[in-house]
Amino acid sequence: MCGIVGYIGEEQAAPLLLQGLEKLEYRGYDSAGVAVYNGERLDVAKAKGRLKVLNNLLDGGKKMQGTIGIGHTRWATHGKPSDINSHPQTSVSGKFAVVHNGIIENYRALKDHLIRRGVNFTSETDTEVVAQLLEYYYRGDVLDALIKVLQRVEGSYALGVICEDHPDELYAVRKDSPLIIGIGNGENFIASDVPAILSKTREIYRLADNEIAKITRMAVTVYDLDKEIVSKEPVHIDWDVSAAEKGGYEHFMAKEIMEQPKAVRDTISPRILGGRIVLDDITLTPEQLKGLRRIEIVACGSAYHVGVVAKYILEKMTKIPVEVDVASEFRYRTPIIDDKVLVLVVSQSGETADTLAALREAKRLGARVLSIVNVVGSSIAAESDDVIYTWAGPEIAVATTKAYSTQLAVVYLLAVYMAQALGTISDQEYTDYIAQLEALPDKIETILQHKENIQYFASKYFNAKDIFFIGRNLDYAMSLEGSLKLKEISYIHSEAYAAGELKHGTISLIEDGTLVVALATQKHLFDKMMSNVREVKARGAVVLGLTTDDCTEIEKETDFTFKIPQACDIMLPSLAVVPLQLFAYYVASMKGCDIDKPRNLAKSVTVE
Ligand code: F6R
Repeated sequence: MCGIVGYIGEEQAAPLLLQGLEKLEYRGYDSAGVAVYNGERLDVAKAKGRLKVLNNLLDGGKKMQGTIGIGHTRWATHGKPSDINSHPQTSVSGKFAVVHNGIIENYRALKDHLIRRGVNFTSETDTEVVAQLLEYYYRGDVLDALIKVLQRVEGSYALGVICEDHPDELYAVRKDSPLIIGIGNGENFIASDVPAILSKTREIYRLADNEIAKITRMAVTVYDLDKEIVSKEPVHIDWDVSAAEKGGYEHFMAKEIMEQPKAVRDTISPRILGGRIVLDDITLTPEQLKGLRRIEIVACGSAYHVGVVAKYILEKMTKIPVEVDVASEFRYRTPIIDDKVLVLVVSQSGETADTLAALREAKRLGARVLSIVNVVGSSIAAESDDVIYTWAGPEIAVATTKAYSTQLAVVYLLAVYMAQALGTISDQEYTDYIAQLEALPDKIETILQHKENIQYFASKYFNAKDIFFIGRNLDYAMSLEGSLKLKEISYIHSEAYAAGELKHGTISLIEDGTLVVALATQKHLFDKMMSNVREVKARGAVVLGLTTDDCTEIEKETDFTFKIPQACDIMLPSLAVVPLQLFAYYVASMKGCDIDKPRNLAKSVTVE
């Protein structure tokens, strides 16, 4: 999500910045911009759309003169994609220019504070707050101003800063968002990722959280927040360029699986303020909530599977009846919809044709539409009454992973928020659920640290012809996603079944050596699940059991086991899905499949 480059040296900065940004295009973006000091002031050029629009505007950079500058590709989060919202963002007098990756979570409060003191804002971005604050605190020393700003901002950020009063200094700082410094000969660079500078240098410093780099043409000095100098060891990069474009991963899917803790954190954290869930994004009032007769969820593919999870959770938490429909079916079954029905639309791309058509049909019938969408400003987002954005960043691999996980995170936020508003949970339960939500990213991280166990298991079964996923209740919902993930990228035939339903027909397909993945994370259904495991084992199945790490019983029943951290029942799907994604990924990788672009599939399905 978003790309940063910066340059200080003797060459013309703008062409180098544009070339660096080109190397970061894989990250996905919707606008781009550069700022260069032209000898008198900061010259800024920004353009919505692909990088080539900016490139043409600047004639490859020739139209901007100057040897220090910063550049950015933006993937919109706060404010729609537009020239004005693009970075660099500048302070009110134009003295400071800032590029930013991440989210300033308390930007609203800071912006209000500055507005009250007469500062005029021009963009809708959280980033402009940083530029404005810099000027507000500036007394002649950029480092001092930057330290003051960092004491005020909350959230995640990688920042590149230049100031027209100090044209020989480039500043960089980070917290929870990557930023590197490329060390050149008589020139230096900053970048959010290695590919941007790989053609110029392979010696870098990796900034740690809360380290501030003051970079001149000849030197890089790194400070901590107390203005003490930090000594840094340079790191040599020996990646080849194409590998680096995937951040060092072999496939975007692997990278995106590993990005899930951050994506889930970015989606949840800004919406929990002072121990409460704040969904500023929605205008649905508690009165409207209380008047709802039904919630109807529509989506396609993995987003539909999120809907299946959501049905179990929303019914349990809010006591409102929930139906979930594949979007392409919804429109043609004369659904009974009116203004007492809330239609919840789930979509990563926000452009899926069937989902969009279902949304329009729901609105035509008078429903209120709330959507969960990843791509800011997409059609589904634009046509919904309310939107809650997932902040997964751009998802490049066709098989969704991190977008799915962030959609689940929003479902939890929404369910707990609605239950509290409706009075269907106690204050204590509300507090406990919030604590569980906040703990999710670290638990996902823990699972990822044990990915080799799944890799080992995949190495034993990547030649399987058929694989079955079974589970009950929320584990059944997860089976659906586990099975889809596997079949779409590995081309192995796979089916997901409600474990209790298997014996009504499909169990006839189980024979000696058939692999069955049995999900058994839901404690209240564990014994029932084990009965179903015994049924398939009695017919020769090999069983991988998936459960929580406090369970000591499962090993007695299954051939292999993978355990996930404990969590409250409703949030276990967020953890259970990770080993299933990893399993699909490793199986497909061992089979040599084209993982990021599986046959016949497209990332965004814009035809019915
Ligand atoms: C599967 C997958 C698809 C999408 C589906 C809906 O890995 O990615 O099943 O979930 O095409 O797409 P969006 O969420 O963009 O509406």
